[in-house]
Order: sequence, then structure tokens, then C-alpha cells
Amino acid sequence: MSAEPSARSFDSSYPDPGDMLVVRGGTPLCGEIRVRGAKNLVSKAMVAALLGSTPSTLYDVPAIRDVEVVTGLLRLHGVRVESLGDGRLVLDPANVETADVEELNVHAGASRIPILFCGPLLHRLGRAFIPDLGGCRIGGRPIDFHLDALREMGAVVDKTPDGLVITAPDGLHGTTLRLPYPSVGATEQVLLTAVLADGITELHNAAVEPEITDLIALLQKMGALITAHTDRLLRIEGVPALRGYAHRPLPDRLEAASWACAALATRGDVLVRGARQADLMTFLNVYRAVGGEFEVDDDPVDGGIRFWHPGGDLGAVALETDVHPGFMTDWQQPLVVALTQARGLSIVHETVYENRLGFTDALVTMGATIQVYSACLGATPCRFGHGGYRHSAVISGPSKLQGNDLVIPDLRGGFSHFIAALAAEGTSRVFGVHLIDRGYEDFGAKLAALGATVDGPAYERAGLRLAGGPLEAAR
Ligand code: EPU
Repeated sequence: MSAEPSARSFDSSYPDPGDMLVVRGGTPLCGEIRVRGAKNLVSKAMVAALLGSTPSTLYDVPAIRDVEVVTGLLRLHGVRVESLGDGRLVLDPANVETADVEELNVHAGASRIPILFCGPLLHRLGRAFIPDLGGCRIGGRPIDFHLDALREMGAVVDKTPDGLVITAPDGLHGTTLRLPYPSVGATEQVLLTAVLADGITELHNAAVEPEITDLIALLQKMGALITAHTDRLLRIEGVPALRGYAHRPLPDRLEAASWACAALATRGDVLVRGARQADLMTFLNVYRAVGGEFEVDDDPVDGGIRFWHPGGDLGAVALETDVHPGFMTDWQQPLVVALTQARGLSIVHETVYENRLGFTDALVTMGATIQVYSACLGATPCRFGHGGYRHSAVISGPSKLQGNDLVIPDLRGGFSHFIAALAAEGTSRVFGVHLIDRGYEDFGAKLAALGATVDGPAYERAGLRLAGGPLEAAR
């Protein structure tokens, strides 16, 4: 792998120059890669292990930084986390203990997962300390739904300068709750808290994403009593104790769609082994509407979905992101890059996060024609219509993209920058590569497997994983 050394100098506002990759664009991505367990289930499943009275085993865990962060947090709470290789993780919560606040605060800002420790820690220890949260900067990302639900179930929340201290002096009890919006995280919060609470919890307007369904399946294995009704209603009957689980998570449908969009934008052909049609049906409809081709292989071991650009022009589309079963917000950013190559005007209305179109500024510097509006450019006005949020985009294509310097803003936006760099003519320098490691396993190795020409300091540093293997942090 090599790339022409760039003559451009470093702008002092760029992040660490060692955290940079040089991408030489213009080559279609072709080949095959595999996706493993979904990041957005695996991290929650690891937290759920805290609820069991016996060890849990999680299969197909990807080697990504979010898993390392949760591993670190669990260990601080006395959970034994052991990697048995090949993505197998054993989590033993026999000795759960209160973690040191200063040590926990080392993880502040690294992830949003700590908020989900509340229920399990309250059940195990009667007290939870939650450091400042992190995660992608794609909107305000408040936690009011989480805290309101916990309070309704009997928790007392104290805000301290270090973080949140949460107690449950009289224990946690079931109640009737209605989420103002079907939040994935708040639904998980209620599930992880209500399963061991006293009595019955009814959660109205719950999220129903496949990752939620998989978490419910895992909790059911542990002995939880959860019924999913129509109209986003979950009914959880608290039980006195739960056991450990053995669980193989659903495959990562966000990563699968990311590589599918990379194939489309670079006029390539990528087989994503492990991708499952049932989790991607809405995405596949849009992929086909844009002009992408796909072929599903249902083999349970080696199956997957092959995605390719069939030649000729792609077509423009109008879409709105939405909660499941709508078009996922996480699919939006990679798809927008492909839409810069489609003929005509595409419209994207982002209705889940108020600030998830910032990554398009970089695409414009590369030659894309994208205008971002604060009005709702969709069939249905959304929550962000009157706040001045730039949450609708009009993309006019096809555009010839040129390589440029790019600074990764967040996980999915960063992947999109890479796709744009790969689709562009010339060389790009992509800074902030470590953010990709949060959710894309073996990113460098997968790019190489698909024939991308990528090089640079981040390749030489441990931060970018080059090959699979046991989890660094869980060894
Ligand atoms: N919201 C509130 N108050 C709350 C919670 C959420 O106003 O207390 C709002 C959010 O601000 C947002 C909307 O509700 O506007 C939806 O947020 P949600 O809670 O559903 O998102 P999340 O649980 O924080 C997870 C994924 C995201 C994914 C969303 C939507 C994880 C760790 N993160 O976030 O994934 O985009 O659900 O499906 O599961 C990613 O993987 O890159 C990623 C950002």
C-alpha cells in the first residue's frame, strides 16, 4: 500500500498529524469484507451482564473502541471481562462493586453508554455514579428521558460537579411511562431497569429498532418477562433475579450499509458477509431506488449481501430519516456521498438528530453541490423545523469530487469522508482517524481488502487496527 507523499503543509488547526491517513481516490472498491455483532447492541449487552447472577457469554464481538470503553467501565465495577478469542467475551459479575469516581471520570466523554449503567447498578449496589457522557457530536443529545424514567421508577438524581449521583432509597418499582420520542437509549434504560424492578412497567412510545428487539431477546434468555405489543408498547414484569446469557448479537446493519454506500459512490462491487436482509429492508429499498444493485445470499454461515454499482447514472431520491422501520439516521451520512454522484436533485430531511448534516461542508469543499436548510424539506414537519437547525439537504449531482484535507467530525460522518476521498480524483488527507475505530472493526484492513490505496501515519500507529484478533482491552 502506498500513496504519493503530499506536498501540502499541516494546518495548525488540524488534530494530531499522526492520526491521519492519506487516501488516493478514483479506484472502485471491490472485494469482500465481513461485519460482526452490531456495535449498538454489543455495548448494551455487555451492560446487561451486570444484571445476571451468573456469567454471560457474548459471541461475535467486534474489536472496536466502544467495546474497549465498556470493558474498562465494567472492570472498574468489579466485573471480570475475558476475551476467549474469535470475538467471544465472557462477563462475570460475581463481585460487582462501587467504582472509584476519579477512575470512572477517566472515561468521561468517551461514550454515551455509562448512562445505561444506572438501572443495573441501582439494583446491584443501590447507587450509581455517571460521569459526563460522550459519543458523537450530532446534536444536543440530552438524557432527560432517561432521568425522568428513572425518577418515575423511584430513583433520586443528584447533579454534582463531577457527574450524576443516582440512588434509590426505597428501591425501584414498575410504573407507566410514555417517552416523548421513541428514543433508543431511553427504551434501553427502561428495559435494563424494569426487568428487576418491583412490579409491572408499561412503556409507551418505545423504540422498536432491531437492536432493541435483540436486547429483549437477550433479557428473555436471562429470565426477564417482557411483552412487545403493537403501537410501540412494551410491558415488563419485574422478576426477583436474572441469570447470565449466551448470546450472538444481530449483525451490524449500520456498518453493512456504510460499505454498501462505499461500493455505490466508488462505482465498485462489495460483498458484505454477515449482512442480513431483514435488518436492512428499508435501506435496500432506497439503494435500489438510487440505482444500486444488490444480491442476497441467505446462507447462515457464509451468507451476506453483495452490493454494486451497475454502471451508468445513479438516480436522485427524496428521503427522510426516521425511527424504525424508517430510514435510519446512521445510514444517511454514507448515502449522501453516493447521492453526490446521482443525476438530479436529491433531498434529505434528517428528523432524528438536529445536527447531523455538518459533514456535508467537507463534501462541498471537494466539489459537491449541497445546500443545507433549516426548513423541513420533507413530507412531514419534524421537531427541528422551528429551531434554526440545519437539518435538510438538497444535493445536486453528479459532481466530480476532488481530493482535499478532511477532519473527521464523528463516526458516521468520518466514514462518509473516507467514501468521498475514495470516490474523488487525487489525494486526500483524512485527520482524526481514531474516531472511526469507535465503531468500524479492522477499518484499515477492510479498506486494503477492497483495493483502496491508503497510507499515512495512522497506519503505523497502534490506533488503527490492521487485522482482526482478540480484543486488546479484554485480553
Ligand atoms: N433524546 C432526547 N432526550 C433523551 C434521549 C434522546 O431528547 O433523553 C433525543 C435525541 O436528542 C435524538 C432522539 O431523541 O434527537 C433520538 O435519540 P436516541 O436516544 O434514539 O439515540 P441514542 O440512543 O443516543 C442510538 C445509537 C445511535 C443512533 C440512534 C438512533 C447507540 C450507542 N447509539 O443513540 O448511533 O443514531 O440510537 O438510532 O446505540 C452511531 O452508531 O453512530 C450512533 C450515533
